[in-house]
Amino acid sequence: MSRMKKFFISILCLADLVFAENFDAKNYFNLPAPDVKGKVSLEQTLAKRRSIREYRDEKLTIKELGQLLWAAQGITANWGGRTSPSAGATYPLEIYVAAGNVEMLEPGVYHYIPEYHRIERVLNQDIRNKLCIAALGQKPIEKAPATIIIAANFSRTKKRYGERATRYVYMEVGHAGQNVYLQAEALGLGTVAIGAFDDGQIKDILKIKEDVLYLFPVGKKF
Ligand SMILES: Cc1cc2nc3c(=O)[nH]c(=O)nc-3n(C[C@H](O)[C@H](O)[C@H](O)COP(=O)(O)O)c2cc1C
Repeated sequence: MSRMKKFFISILCLADLVFAENFDAKNYFNLPAPDVKGKVSLEQTLAKRRSIREYRDEKLTIKELGQLLWAAQGITANWGGRTSPSAGATYPLEIYVAAGNVEMLEPGVYHYIPEYHRIERVLNQDIRNKLCIAALGQKPIEKAPATIIIAANFSRTKKRYGERATRYVYMEVGHAGQNVYLQAEALGLGTVAIGAFDDGQIKDILKIKEDVLYLFPVGKKF
């Protein structure tokens, strides 16, 4: 065997090892540890944040995806505190990703598990086209390599706050959504908050029990 061939085979084996290490039998995938230091200041990020609806036809790296998920709901305190505030620390939000073109991930839907900074595959299918149709044909969802989905389980907050919980949960979605916007900007990625979609259709496509409140297609900026 030529040296070149041996070299390529060992690279492939290494890639397999990395992949196998991250996915276990239960379909969990351990995300790379998030960075807590960035290259741009918060002020620069705030000044530059814009809704971006067109993306380069390029893969999102697993590091970028992990960082965005952490920004949305990552754990940042021993007692379970997260990057986003939550009324009475009831944490009603659940984050999903519809991945179509993400490094190391098969197209599908993944659920973020903040406690372990990992994702679990919940659907084995590229749903970007279906999501786009359910979101009134908004093309960013079809074109983006991934869409972050913010859903909520209202009952967690209602148990403590009764009727007032509804407004608290909507406020929390705004906090998490802004975190996604700012983290995307800090990474040189583009995103847009999408609130216009058919609730029933989205639920049918995702087959999840929580209510979907926001979609954030994410991709590399032009
Ligand atoms: C609650 C909410 C819902 C939104 N829904 C959509 C949407 O469905 N589609 C879209 O293209 N933009 C949507 N946007 C993004 C706004 O159009 C955008 O924030 C606004 O035009 C201001 O531009 P900027 O974000 O670049 O500052 C939404 C924003 C918010 C806050």
